[in-house]
Amino acid sequence: MKISSAEFVISNSDVGKCPKDKLPEYAFIGRSNVGKSSLINMLTGRKSLAKTSGRPGKTQLINHFIINKNWFLVDLPGYGYARVSKSAKKVFQKFITAYFSKRTQLVNAFVLVDCRHEPQKIDLEFMQWLGENQIPFSIIFTKADKLSKNKLPVHINNYTQEMLKYWEEMPNYFITSSSSGLGKDDVLNYIEEINKQ
Ligand code: GTP
Ligand code: MG
Repeated sequence: MKISSAEFVISNSDVGKCPKDKLPEYAFIGRSNVGKSSLINMLTGRKSLAKTSGRPGKTQLINHFIINKNWFLVDLPGYGYARVSKSAKKVFQKFITAYFSKRTQLVNAFVLVDCRHEPQKIDLEFMQWLGENQIPFSIIFTKADKLSKNKLPVHINNYTQEMLKYWEEMPNYFITSSSSGLGKDDVLNYIEEINKQ
């Protein structure tokens, strides 16, 4: 899919204030610093559409971007960031949960995981929660440029084996790098196919 326009719409912490339009919506979620905002920039080809940072905890609100004037990309705060205070964590959790529970326009959640890491409890629990709430999701392995060509498939295979302990089958997944652009067409074509349905 060609991206002809990508514009920021609104940021907020209240799902009730998200855009009212019933356009299909795709959300990016995952641990702080996993690369959600960078991926949005890579997919849209806009360098600083979403704010990124080397320090975890950059994105703190629900951010809506309208793409090609007919669907939304949503950048969310990361979960599991240890240095955010407990009360701030609770607030995040609350509105992230509210977002996923109430946002009927949501078509698919992309759960981002760093391809270098073993499956993390918090990600597995979050995916479990999405499953229990019948929210469709895919996994995106990020930062593929950080692993050698040989190591990457080994890590993906290990992750898959671990997932199969909890799931009957491996969810749909993508391998990406926001530095090299790897996976861009795969993710965009996937969204395009769903939008057509
Ligand atoms: P929060 O908003 O804090 O939850 O983080 P985030 O998940 O939005 O991560 P962000 O996109 O801000 O990226 C975090 C850091 O990882 C930044 O320093 C990015 O430059 C770096 N990064 C993100 N994606 C990639 C990637 O594919 N490859 C490499 N090498 N670095 C990446
Ligand atoms: Mg971010």
